Amino acid sequence: MSSILEPGITFINKELKGKNIDRIDRRLKNLKDIFFDKTALEKMDPETVVYEVESYFPVEHDIEGGLFYGITYIHPGTVGNEYFMTKGHFHKIRNRGEFYCTLQGEGMLILMDENRNTWAEKMYPGSIHYIKGNTAHRTANTGNTILSFSAFWPSDAGHDYATISEQGFSKILVQRQGKPELISR
Ligand code: F6R
Ligand code: ZN
Repeated sequence: MSSILEPGITFINKELKGKNIDRIDRRLKNLKDIFFDKTALEKMDPETVVYEVESYFPVEHDIEGGLFYGITYIHPGTVGNEYFMTKGHFHKIRNRGEFYCTLQGEGMLILMDENRNTWAEKMYPGSIHYIKGNTAHRTANTGNTILSFSAFWPSDAGHDYATISEQGFSKILVQRQGKPELISR
């Protein structure tokens, strides 16, 4: 897996290099709420890594005026016929937006407004996605290789995971005849 600390992506601000970097992984055991097919999920190894995130926090959390940067790597795979995907969230301060820029792989950005209207945008290397405020966002890997994308968001945005873990998105992204399809639950 490539990394924001490896050559290729250079920190220009040398004094910040290697500092305030947070790395997490999310495994099937951490994602029980989000996948639709619980029977398929139970048959899989709970330690399977679904995605990894490296984030760079040059300022304190919840402080207005800064920006955060992160790269997400989603592994290829499915649970039943649903693609490996992120938890998904609204920002805690609802009107905060975000940019996603796809680096490698194929995927879909799934978006949902506060009225639970859900739609999706195709992700491919070079695709840039502006996520408006008040919009929940989740990404799914629809290819056979790692999907990676960079994200840029305001430092005071925060994350509301509870709403999605309790209510989900109104649509799920499944593989049908080898292709992604967004269907109502
Ligand atoms: C930050 C952001 C991304 C996600 C990452 C993992 O606001 O949208 O960096 O945090 O793609 O997804 P979640 O946070 O939904 O587990
Ligand atoms: Zn976000």
